[in-house]
Amino acid sequence: MDRRNFLKVVAASATVMAVSPSMIRGNLYAADGTLFKAYDKVQLVDAAGKPIKASALAKEVTYIFNYPHASTPCMLINLPKGTSKEVELASENGEKYVWKSGVGKERSIVAYVAICTHQMTHPTPNDSFITYVPTTKKTMAYDKGGVIVCSSHLSAFDAGAGAKVLGGAATQPLNSVVLEHAADDTLWAVGILGSDKFQDYFKSFRPELKEFYGGPAEAKKLVSISAKTVKLTEYSKEIIQY
Ligand code: FES
Repeated sequence: MDRRNFLKVVAASATVMAVSPSMIRGNLYAADGTLFKAYDKVQLVDAAGKPIKASALAKEVTYIFNYPHASTPCMLINLPKGTSKEVELASENGEKYVWKSGVGKERSIVAYVAICTHQMTHPTPNDSFITYVPTTKKTMAYDKGGVIVCSSHLSAFDAGAGAKVLGGAATQPLNSVVLEHAADDTLWAVGILGSDKFQDYFKSFRPELKEFYGGPAEAKKLVSISAKTVKLTEYSKEIIQY
C-alpha cells in the first residue's frame, strides 16, 4: 500500500484516520489532502427539510447553513458563472493547498465557512457583517461586486477562486466547504478545506454561543445527516454591508 496515496483526515468522531482519495468524490478537495478535514457527509435541505436542488438555487444569493459544527455558519452561493479551477491558495502560515473548483452543471456553486479569517466576524441571528456582494452592487472593500465582503474591516474574498483574499485585513482565504453534487441534483457537504479557526471561535464567542445554542457543548456538536439552508436575509435580522 502506497502511503502517499492516502490522506490523513479527521473524521467526525475526531479520530485521525486514513482515507483513500478515491473515497472522496467531491470536486473541491485538495489534490494531496493538504489542510483537508473530512466530516460527516451532510445533505443540504431547506427550512422544510426538503433537499436543496442545485439547479433551483437563485443566482448571487447568500444562503447559510451550519457545518461542520452546530454553530459554525457557512455560506452557499450560486455564482453568475463557472469558477476558476485548481486555484493554489496559502494559509497564513504559508501552507499551500489547492481549491479544485465550484460544483454543479456550470461549476458555479461554492460554499465557504462564513467566519472571517481576520477577526472571526460571522453571521448571527441578530446581524451579519459578512456576505456575498452581487456583481451589480458596490462595495467599499473592492473595486467591483461579485466578491465576498467582511464589512468589519473591509476584507474582500474572491468567491470564484477559493475565497482568496483580494484586499483588506484578512491574511488567509475563508475556509472552503467541500461540496458534492449528486446525480439527482442534490448537494452535500463532506469536509472543510483550509486552516480553520473553529477552536478560537468557540473560545472567543462563548456568551453568544450560549445564547443561541445553549452552551459550548451544543455549539461544538458535529452536524450529521442534514443541514438546514436558508437565505442570509432569513438567517440574520440585519445585514450590514459597506
Ligand atoms: S473581521 Fe473580517 S475584516 Fe476584520
